[in-house]
Formats: sequence, C-alpha cells, structure tokens
Amino acid sequence: MAEQFVLAQADHAFALDPYPTYRRLRDTAPVCRQPDGSVFLSRYEDVRRVITDADGFSSDKKVDFLPKFGTSPLYEHHTTSLVFNDPPYHTRVRRMLGPFFTAQAMRRMEASVAANVDALLGVAAEKRVIDVMSEFALPIPLNLVCDLLGVPREEREPLRRWAALILGGLEPVRTPAELAEGHAAVLEFKAYLKELIAAKRRQRAPADPDVLDALIADHERGDGLTIDEIVHNCIFMLNAGHDTTTSFITNGIDLLLRFPQQRARLIADPSLMRTAIEEMLRYESPLQIGNRKARNDCEIGGEKIAAGTFLHLGIGAADHDERQFPDPESFDIARDPNRHLAFGHGIHFCAGNAVARMEASVAFRRLLARFPGFERAGATVRPPRWRFRVIDELKVDLRP
Ligand code: HEM
Repeated sequence: MAEQFVLAQADHAFALDPYPTYRRLRDTAPVCRQPDGSVFLSRYEDVRRVITDADGFSSDKKVDFLPKFGTSPLYEHHTTSLVFNDPPYHTRVRRMLGPFFTAQAMRRMEASVAANVDALLGVAAEKRVIDVMSEFALPIPLNLVCDLLGVPREEREPLRRWAALILGGLEPVRTPAELAEGHAAVLEFKAYLKELIAAKRRQRAPADPDVLDALIADHERGDGLTIDEIVHNCIFMLNAGHDTTTSFITNGIDLLLRFPQQRARLIADPSLMRTAIEEMLRYESPLQIGNRKARNDCEIGGEKIAAGTFLHLGIGAADHDERQFPDPESFDIARDPNRHLAFGHGIHFCAGNAVARMEASVAFRRLLARFPGFERAGATVRPPRWRFRVIDELKVDLRP
C-alpha cells in the first residue's frame, strides 16, 4: 500500500529518525502527493534531476511563501536571498560572491580556523566535559563567516538565535508564536546590519575588503545591489554559513560516537578524512529538505506533475537511497564514490561547500589527534525540526 505521509503533520519522532519513513516512501510512494497539492520526492534520481534542472524547476518563492508568511519581514528576507531566486537576479548575486570562495581565499581561512579550533580545544581540555554543539561546532563556522563579512567579534553573540529563528521559519510546521519570533529576528538582524553598513561607509575603503565591503563598493559605484538586497543576502550568508556547518560538525561527532569502529579506523588512517567527511554529509545531510516549483507540465518518477506544483526535495531521503548507495544505512568512512546531494547541485550548488568541508576537516583532525578517546556524556538532543538536521545538545567527555 502507498505510504500516507503528510510533511505538514510530521511529529518529533520523525525529526528524531526520519530514515525508516524515507525508506518506505522510496519503496511505495516516491512521488508522494500532499493534501495542499505539493509533492514530496524521496528517490535520488528524482531529487537530483529536479535540483539540477533550473530551466524546468524554479527556486523563486515569491508566490509560494505568501500564504505562509504574508507580506512580512520573513517574506521579504527569504524572497530576496539568492538561494530563493532564479536568474538573472540569482546570477548577479552569485557572481559577486565568487571571488571570496577561491582556493587562495580558502588557504587564508584555513590558518585562522586551525587557530580557532586549537583555542577552543584548549578551553575544552580544562573543562573536560563540554557540549560539543555550543562549545565547539558552533563557534568554528560562526567566527569564520563573521570574519568573512566583517562582523566584529564582540557583536556576534545574537547571530545564533537570529539564525535559528529565521531558518526555523522555513520548517514545514511552525506555530504563530514561532513565526512572530522569526519576523522579529529579521527586523533586529536588518537593523544591526544597516548600522554596520553605515559604519563601514563612514570609514575609508579598506585595502583588504571583506564580502560586505565589496558589496558596498559595488553599490556605491552604481552597479551593485540595493542596500536592502545587500542586507538580506548577508543575513542569508551569515545564517547559511554557520547553522548548517554547526549541524555538520555536531552530527559528525555523533556519528563517530555511534560507530566506534569507524572512529578507530579514521584515527588509525587519517588519510581517510576526505571520504569520512563526505560520508558524514551523506549520512546526516544538514539540509534534509529543499524545494523547487515545476515551471511546466512534466513527468517525475513516472507520475504527471502539473505546471506550478511545489516540490519538496528529500535530500536526506535521496542520500539514503539504496538505488544509488549500496548498503546506505551502513556508515562507511571509506565510501567511494559518494555522490551525495548534501550541497545540492546545479546553479544553486552551495557556494560555501569548500569552506564547510575545510572547517570540518580541520576540526575533526585536531579533535581526534588531541582527544582520540572522547566519550558520550549525555544523550543527543534533537529539536522538532525536519528541514534541517539539527542537534541542540551533545555532551562529550574529552578523556585525555
Ligand atoms: C555543511 C554545511 C553546508 C550545507 C549542508 C549547505 C547546503 C547548501 C545547499 C543544499 C544549498 C543549495 C540550496 C538549493 O539548491 O536550493 C546551499 C546554497 C548556498 N550555501 Fe550552503 N551549505 C553549507 C555551508 C555553507 C557555508 C559555510 C556557506 C558560506 C560561507 C554557504 C553558503 C551558501 C550560499 C551563498 C548558497 C546559495 C547558492 C545559490 O543559490 O547559488 N553554505 N547550501
């Protein structure tokens, strides 16, 4: 019998372990119709095809987000960021970000990530038991992405809360109170960035511009984004740049605790780090559900899809598809090939993928070298979130 699955009614148990449901969906209802007319896709082949084909499937959310958000701060934010837009606006913004993600830029970032990781591990060694989410996995990408955008150290504290509330707004199930908090977070974040931009504009252009300086310079030359477009794309970068990477590193530590033989293998052979990182991304993809809209009538997985249909792309489901990944529930740090979809594909392929991979690789190398015998000191706490694979708390004992 076809699986009855309604994403908007998903419960906490599903957020804790969505994979058995995804498996049943792939087998019995790979193109799963939702009561609101949208469709949930769970097979790798279907998700990859849709995510790759920007001509056939739109990322623009101006129509679809209206019923959920109304004309509100969350609506303004999510419909202005590049990820939820199509060309030509998407292409313009993406081009402006390109120079900040080159190999040379990456090498510079790596040195500061290593210094940050060592400092965090130094503090952690004194405490011995730490929550690896808030005391290790979060500060690494938060500091990096704030450096990238020139957010001063002493002003970074509220960003985590703003990101959780703004990205939380994208979850399929949200209460009015949660949405109200999301709107307030957008307004606070906007006000903060507008002040930062004004302060930067009062100073002389720096010799070594950060992303925000470069966007301001383009704006002042008259060929850049408006100030509101700069603000919303920077909010997106700050959120996307740290929230997902925090989940990536925390889920990675959780996986090393759950699969001790794989951890021992990685410690014995650190050259497996590259494939281990990819396997962590596949096994617990930080962004579990993406979205697109069909531009034309089409067929997906043998089913007719009408133009205008909203598609939920089950990235987490696709990355466990046995049709693509042999023995998908086995966590194998040497898995190769491993063409997971954790960073998406096509024109919206994650701009920060190399940054996230570098951060995780530095973090795991140094953590395992210094504390190879770390042990669980509490349960893995996951909130009721479905779109993002979040861990709220994971206490670990860093036994010397
Ligand atoms: C493990 C960490 C990360 C994951 C899993 C992730 C995942 C993704 C995915 C799946 C997309 C494509 C969304 C779509 O097709 O609709 C995306 C886009 C994007 N990501 Fe990431 N991301 C991560 C880290 C980062 C970092 C560190 C940055 C920046 C420093 C970043 C910046 C972006 C940007 C700017 C886009 C929009 C690209 C576009 O629309 O052209 N991400 N990310």
